[in-house]
Amino acid sequence: SAMEMGYADHGGGPSMRPMHHHQSLAELKPAADRPADVSVRLVARKERFEIAGRGSMRGYTLNHTSPGPQITAKQGELIEVTLVNESVPEGMTLHWHGVDVPAAEDGVAGITQDAVLPGQTFVYRFVAVDVGTYWYHSHQVSHEQVKDGLYGVLVVSPGTTDVVAAVHTYDKVRTVNGGYGERRVAGTGTVRLRLINTDNGPMAAWVDGAGYRVLAVDGTEVNAPTPVEGKSVLVTAGGRIDLEITLPGKAVRIGLGGGPTTLVIGEGDAPAGREPADRVDLLSYGKPAALPFDPAAADRHFEYRIGRRPGFLDGKPGLWWTINGHQFPDVPMFMVAEDDVVTMTIKNGSGQVHPMHLHGHHVLVLSRDGVRATGSPWWTDSLNVEDDETYEIAFRADNPGIWMDHCHNLPHAAQGLTTHLMYE
Ligand code: C2O
Ligand code: CU
Repeated sequence: SAMEMGYADHGGGPSMRPMHHHQSLAELKPAADRPADVSVRLVARKERFEIAGRGSMRGYTLNHTSPGPQITAKQGELIEVTLVNESVPEGMTLHWHGVDVPAAEDGVAGITQDAVLPGQTFVYRFVAVDVGTYWYHSHQVSHEQVKDGLYGVLVVSPGTTDVVAAVHTYDKVRTVNGGYGERRVAGTGTVRLRLINTDNGPMAAWVDGAGYRVLAVDGTEVNAPTPVEGKSVLVTAGGRIDLEITLPGKAVRIGLGGGPTTLVIGEGDAPAGREPADRVDLLSYGKPAALPFDPAAADRHFEYRIGRRPGFLDGKPGLWWTINGHQFPDVPMFMVAEDDVVTMTIKNGSGQVHPMHLHGHHVLVLSRDGVRATGSPWWTDSLNVEDDETYEIAFRADNPGIWMDHCHNLPHAAQGLTTHLMYE
């Protein structure tokens, strides 16, 4: 029962408002006449573009590049993005992955807006309420459009200088920041490395030549992050991990899944290692802190059982994903009322890993396979659920709307692993 879940004992005292918990919708939604602090115009095209170090490919660009331009804002600034679809034939949108925007700005074609067709324009406006590492991508035929280039980085910073590593695979070519092979960036002293996995599968990352601390997960700061040596960290598909690396006076190399593409920070030669055998477990990393709600006093509990079975989808035979035994579109929706505390059991018995992504909210991991979280509150929007694993999560329904809850292995989402969270 809900009473058996962890955290009840640190729920007591007053605390800072944790990030990603909004007192009111007004906080997220800018007044119509407020001028933008950051305005960006993104023109989407179907065309050839360059992968540095590798040659050109056909796909989609934003302002003639893929990834599109990095959007950087300071906390509290109003971001206004004008999307112009010049030549993406199927139409497109922009979804702000991990940013708790008002529902109308969420960029899901067919739910929060219509796809923006060639020749059309759409303006997104939202306040960068929460500091963090995020990314944006199209949410129209996303399993094709994201893979072929319609994505970019969004950083909401308190004003620091950082190094970004956005990893993306274009038809088996893994890139970092749009380039293939050993890529280099400048850096001295202590850097904050923002790792972003825009692919469909999980990726281990590690640092050769220095230790590190895990500063943030999916845009939320870790409480009391401890030093890590000789371990990798898993970046879930869709997920973001921020590392603090103190450069030892020479260059360090960031291993990104073990392939030829790596990121070297600093000048000169950097050591080249292999993936460490050990991995940071976020369930026990950092120290507990007060929570904004008590998961032991949940108003609703849901089960999200992922399976797979043969059947038909859009008339096509195949092995399709199921949610609670149902096959898309006959899948259950999760109904909540505003301010409910919700717990959910996500159980994966489907034979494959699924990176589960809920829009508009961040969820707290309570346990994995019955082992309770004992570290820093682990807030996530992209949770790697391996085959046979069971996670208990909790969140507060604090952002009314209709929100997708889907696997961020985007072909899986298109193959039925999609449902919605709805406010009654
Ligand atoms: Cu990255 Cu439904 O989104
Ligand atoms: Cu999946």
